[in-house]
Amino acid sequence: MKNVNPHETASWQNLDSHFYEIFEKELKTLFQKDPKRFEKFSLKFDSILFDFSKNYLTEETLTLLTDLATECGLEESISGMFNGELINKTENRAVLHTALRNRSGKPVFLNGKDVMPEILEVLEQMKQFSGKVRSGEWKGFSGKPIKDIVNIGIGGSDLGPVMVCNALKHYADGPKVHFVSNVDGSHIFETLKELNSETTLFLIVSKTFTTQETMLNATSAKKWFEENGGKDVSKHFVAVSTNATAVAEFGIDTANMFRFWDFVGGRFSLWSAVGLSIVLSVGYDNFELLLSGAHRMDEHFRTTPFKKNIPVIMAMVGIWYTNFFTTETEAILPYDQYLDRLPAYLQQAIMESNGKSVDRNGNDVEYSTSPVIWGEPGTNGQHSFYQLIHQGTPFIPSIFMAAAQPLNNMENHHQALLSNYFAQTEALMNGKTEKIVIDELKKQGKTEEEIEFLTPFKCFVGGIPTTSILYQKLTPEVLGSLLSMFENRLFVQGVIWNIFSFDQWGVELGKQLAKQILPELSGDENIETHDNSTNGLINTYKEMRK
Ligand code: F6P
Repeated sequence: MKNVNPHETASWQNLDSHFYEIFEKELKTLFQKDPKRFEKFSLKFDSILFDFSKNYLTEETLTLLTDLATECGLEESISGMFNGELINKTENRAVLHTALRNRSGKPVFLNGKDVMPEILEVLEQMKQFSGKVRSGEWKGFSGKPIKDIVNIGIGGSDLGPVMVCNALKHYADGPKVHFVSNVDGSHIFETLKELNSETTLFLIVSKTFTTQETMLNATSAKKWFEENGGKDVSKHFVAVSTNATAVAEFGIDTANMFRFWDFVGGRFSLWSAVGLSIVLSVGYDNFELLLSGAHRMDEHFRTTPFKKNIPVIMAMVGIWYTNFFTTETEAILPYDQYLDRLPAYLQQAIMESNGKSVDRNGNDVEYSTSPVIWGEPGTNGQHSFYQLIHQGTPFIPSIFMAAAQPLNNMENHHQALLSNYFAQTEALMNGKTEKIVIDELKKQGKTEEEIEFLTPFKCFVGGIPTTSILYQKLTPEVLGSLLSMFENRLFVQGVIWNIFSFDQWGVELGKQLAKQILPELSGDENIETHDNSTNGLINTYKEMRK
C-alpha cells in the first residue's frame, strides 16, 4: 500500500482550485446546461441504479477526483486488500472479509495458505446446523424444537446481523430471532421475559469472547436458562468466535462453536459465522444469495475503471464534500422500511473505520476524515430532521435509497413512498425562489405587508446535493451488493485519507476506565480518585441509589 499524504498531491491542489469554479455554479443550472447529465452521471449495476448527477460535479471534477485516487495508490491498495496483504498494520493483520463471500471458486492466499477451504468448511457447518434447527431436527432439552433464537453480541457482532435480519424479514421463515446487545440489564430482561427455556437457542457471538457486555449478557442468559429448568447447555448455547479457549472456559462445548478469523474485522463480520442468526432466520440459500450479491459488487469494485466504479465514485464524491466543501455530516436516507437499521449499521462500519486523526506515518492528519453518519428511513425523517437539511445552516449531502418494487402488496403505499423519494431530492436541488414564494402568497390573497414578512421564511436556497440509489427489489442478492458497495466505499476513503481503517483503538480508553470504575461502585465510601466532576457524579450516584 502506498503511503501518500493526499494534501500534498497535485490532484488535491487541482481540486482546490477547481472547487472555486464549481462552487460558483448552481446545481440546477448544471442540468439546464446539459440535458444528458443524468445519462453521464449515473451507473447501472445489475438491478441497481446509482445516480450521482445531483452532485456538484462536472466531467472535469470526476477526472480530478479519480486522479486523486490514482495518485494515492488506490489501485495497489485494492489489490493489496483482496490479496491478503497485512494492511491492518497496527494489528498486523490482513483484511479479508471479501474472502468470506468469494464465490469464484478461486483460492485466496494469506501468508501462502489458501483461506478458502476453512471458510467453506464453516459455511457448510452453518448450513448443516441451521438446517437441523430450522427443520426441527435439533431439539431442546425436553425434546421440543427451537422456536426462538437469541443473538447475544454487540457492535459488529450485533449491528450487521440485526440490520440484515430486519432487511430480509420478508424472507424469514425460521425461528424468531431476538438480539441482545446492551449491558443495560433491561435489554436482556425484556427479551427473556417472553421466552421459554425449552425452545430457546442462544448464540453467543463475540470475536474476542472477552467483551464485557456480551460476557455479562451471556452469563445472565445461562443463569436464566438454568433457573427456568434448563438442562443440557450444549443444546441451547452455541458460540461464534475466534477465541476457542475463552469459549470453552465459558462452558460452551467447542463442538458447538463456529469459527472465524482475525482477518475479519468485527464490523465486517456479518458475512462470516457472525451471520448465523441470519441463516437461521432466512435459510442458508438466502444467505448464499447475500454472499453472491456482495461478491458481484466486490468484483465490480476490483476490476472496473475508476470512472465507472460505483464504490470508487461514491467514495470520491464523499471526499469532495468532506475535504473541499468542508461538510461534516452525511445523511443516509433509505426510503425502505426494511432498511431502517442501515444507518445504525453504517455508523459503526464507517465511523469506527475512518474516525481517525493520525495518518499511516503516525502524524496528525491535516485534513478532515470521516463525516458523522446519521439517518432514518423516509418518509419518517421528513417529519423530523429534514427541516434542517432544507433550511438549516449546515450543508448536508445525503444518500437516498429506494426499491422500485415493493415486497408487500399494500395498495397505494409504494407510489406514495416513491413520490416522496423523488420529490425530496428534487426539492433539495431546486429549492424555492423568492419569486415563486411571492406568487404563491399573492394567490393566497396575502397583503403586501404579510408577503414581505413571510417571504424570507418560505424560501429554500436549494443547491443541496444528493445521490440516489434505486434498486429493483430488496432481494438478498441486492442487499449483499449494496452492503459491499458501502464497505468498499469506506475502504477507498481510508486509502485517500491515508489512515488505517481496520483498527479501532479509540474504543479502548473508555473500556479501561469502566473496568477501573466498576469495583469503585461497590461500597458506600466516597471516591476521590478521579477529576472533580467524575467523583461528584459517582458519589451522587452512591447517594441516590440508597
Ligand atoms: O468496542 C468495539 C468493538 O471492538 C467492535 O469493533 C466490535 O465489533 C465489538 O466491539 C464487539 O467485539 P467482539 O465481537 O469481540 O465482542
